[in-house]
Amino acid sequence: MDKFLIEGGKPLYGTVAAESAKNSVLPLLAASVLTDAPVTIRSVPQISDVACMAQILKELGAKVTFRGGSVVIDSADAHSHSIASVLTRELRSSVFMLGSLLSRFGRAVCAYPGGCDIGLRPIDLHLNALKRLGVSIEERDGCIYCSCERLKGAEIVLDFPSVGATENILLAAVKAEGRTVIGGAAKEPEIVDLQNFLNAMGANVKGAGTDVIEIEGVKKLGGVCFTPVKDRIEAGSYLIACAICGGEIEVVGVKAEMLALLLHKLRENGCKIHTKNDKIRISSNAALKCNRRIETMPFPGFPTDLQAQITALNAGAEGGALIVENLFETRYKYVPELLKMGADIEVRGRSAFVRGVKRLHGASVVCRDLRGGAALVLAALGAEGRSEVLDLSHVDRGYAGLEEKFTKLGASIRRVRV
Ligand code: EPZ
Repeated sequence: MDKFLIEGGKPLYGTVAAESAKNSVLPLLAASVLTDAPVTIRSVPQISDVACMAQILKELGAKVTFRGGSVVIDSADAHSHSIASVLTRELRSSVFMLGSLLSRFGRAVCAYPGGCDIGLRPIDLHLNALKRLGVSIEERDGCIYCSCERLKGAEIVLDFPSVGATENILLAAVKAEGRTVIGGAAKEPEIVDLQNFLNAMGANVKGAGTDVIEIEGVKKLGGVCFTPVKDRIEAGSYLIACAICGGEIEVVGVKAEMLALLLHKLRENGCKIHTKNDKIRISSNAALKCNRRIETMPFPGFPTDLQAQITALNAGAEGGALIVENLFETRYKYVPELLKMGADIEVRGRSAFVRGVKRLHGASVVCRDLRGGAALVLAALGAEGRSEVLDLSHVDRGYAGLEEKFTKLGASIRRVRV
């Protein structure tokens, strides 16, 4: 288990390029089994969630080769429709394999998906949608058994704009018989990326990025060579880091509209932000004001995946802030760790009441999930004195080369094997 040793208080200067989006690459990997032709995904981030998904594909019998920053998946010889429970427990994204396995094999078996411990994370929306497409589903001994003679297009309305459920439906519907319409679809940029990927394979999908997506089933899908959209959550994490530490950095690869609400909140904190094409420049004197209120919402609202990071910023700013987490039930596991650094935060249900303190101080803290872990790293970078951040396996799921990138920006951070 690795840990970071961080000497806080160094301002950040320089440029950082965002990686391809973790939450796009994962569904694209799942989509690769929809064809028996080779699929290439370029500039794949070196993060453990991608490695885990690649392993799941290998267990299906696909050949997966990482070469020069790309990954090539050849699933011509894929023979299994069942994904191993150990890996699926680790990775929430395994659940969208249901759609692609059903499309490929007419059957799919998947263990109840795991992933970050940030809430109940039910999959009722996924399963109800698959049933609308003609899938029969049996749940027993912690596994989900799906089968379907022929996937048939249908009108589907989602009670909640679930990202994963929208993606699962897309994967199941692209080769179904007839037309599928998803009402109340998620509008995240990663859904648009999946539409572009599937259409490049020969699918007929329209409307991604809006709440109505239409899919005309096609008979066959071909191979594709594709570069995913960049990671807006990684980019946002670096912008918040600079706000906390002070200095001036430019994040490259993500357009302002992908992070509109975060930029609005950072300006409210007192940061200067300039954007041009896919470049976002931020400067901060580290003497910030709290945001009065932040509510996480589906895209284009404030992203739940940046909630922990912006709370860490508010913990060391002037004034008070109310943070409301509307998507996940228990996404405040990082708060007790921030309290060790001198933060003054009270969590009540989905709300966190932050009273800003002058400056956090270094401490020994433990990561509990991916984004909460990132928030602890950001807090430590801005805190007075030395910190150690333990159990980096959570952070390594979604951030490639974190310590190298922060070191290049002037931070004092190093990884130590424990
Ligand atoms: C995706 O998770 C992302 N993961 C999450 O990022 C992100 O936080 C989330 O979307 C919201 O943006 C990937 O893309 C791999 P949801 P997902 O289905 O698909 C409820 C990260 O840190 N719900 O949109 O699991 C659910 O409980 C990760 O990178 C149901 O009730 O999210 C939650 O309250 C964490 N029934 C809400 O919807 C369902 O069948 C949002 O979930 C499905 C979801």
